[in-house]
Amino acid sequence: MHILLTGAAGFIGRHVLEQLLAHGHEVRALDSMRPDVHRSGTAWTPPRGVEALVGDVRDRAFVSRAVSGVDAVIHLAAKVGLGVDLDDMPDYASSNDVGTAELLAGMARAGVSRLTLASSMVVYGEGFGRCPAHGSVRPGPRLESALAAGDFEPPCPICALALAVGLVDEETPFDPRNAYATSKAAQEFYAANWARAAGGSAAMMRYHNVYGPGMPRDTPYAGVASIFTSALRRGEAPRVFEDGRQRRDFVHVRDVAAATVRACERHVEGVRAYNVGSGIPRTVGDMALALALALHGPAPVVTGQYRLGDVRHITADSSRLRRELGWAPAVDFADGMTELAALSVEQPARPRVAAG
Ligand code: UD1
Repeated sequence: MHILLTGAAGFIGRHVLEQLLAHGHEVRALDSMRPDVHRSGTAWTPPRGVEALVGDVRDRAFVSRAVSGVDAVIHLAAKVGLGVDLDDMPDYASSNDVGTAELLAGMARAGVSRLTLASSMVVYGEGFGRCPAHGSVRPGPRLESALAAGDFEPPCPICALALAVGLVDEETPFDPRNAYATSKAAQEFYAANWARAAGGSAAMMRYHNVYGPGMPRDTPYAGVASIFTSALRRGEAPRVFEDGRQRRDFVHVRDVAAATVRACERHVEGVRAYNVGSGIPRTVGDMALALALALHGPAPVVTGQYRLGDVRHITADSSRLRRELGWAPAVDFADGMTELAALSVEQPARPRVAAG
């Protein structure tokens, strides 16, 4: 297929590009090279044979050129992370939602009917918990007073009892808790609107916490595994927020790229969401410990600090992706952490494809 890949110079994009080429696709790779993600002056040299376009998906004329003649679009270009403060809100709305709307309008004009969209697990908010008295309930937003007092677990909204954590599936209603999550939820709605109106197909890939070679480092968009490896490289202990028992599903970037390519190749009808996780939730404290061991660094320090927009637990049921698209994660957590640790010592964090 001839595929337009947006965000192709980004962390996940570089791996998707590599796998698309390995599958024999023709790729038009697009990136805006925004300076807050790619240090200004950073050159982007995509592999030979790839048509590279540098520009912004909010630019209508540029989008028209980018979508012309392709069979499918994989849309990864976005502003990621939690954001620094509320002043980031307009940029999330603009970069992610206006950008996606322009892209979808351009696809409709050009008659391109297949979309694979990078969404996120954060659209579910706290997901749901199981109360011993009230069964399955949706926790409310965590109060700052509770966080400051060290009460990190969101309680049952009816009786305030402690909740057991459940795995969220794709039918769980959205409950975005920060600007990034809201922008991802809106992207999905725009894509669904487009799919209905234009007769297109859209696969919404709700990524879990992605880690691996090429992770953004030392930027406001660095994920926790990257922050911990950077600290350990400086000889410092990883600083684990809250009590370290918040759960995430850390999924390797090559597995995420494989899921994305597979959805692009196989999802051809209607709108379908897929959680993309390893299926094995871990605590942030355990992840910090695994990295500290792999890097022979100081033991993690649990700080009790918190970030207001943070969700306590994000743990997905990713079985639909296995069932319907035949995907399975290939990278074991311990191997992935060891690889990350080795890379962070030996080389700047860029995957092979970037060397080109
Ligand atoms: C991450 C992604 C987000 C994605 C989501 C999907 C990043 C920056 N964010 O959000 O794009 O949509 O997964 O599930 O990759 N923490 C520490 N110490 C630190 C920094 C963070 O303990 O120094 C903790 C946080 O409080 C949080 C956890 O680590 O509990 C994960 O944080 P982070 O890596 O920023 O990711 P998410 O907010 O889960």
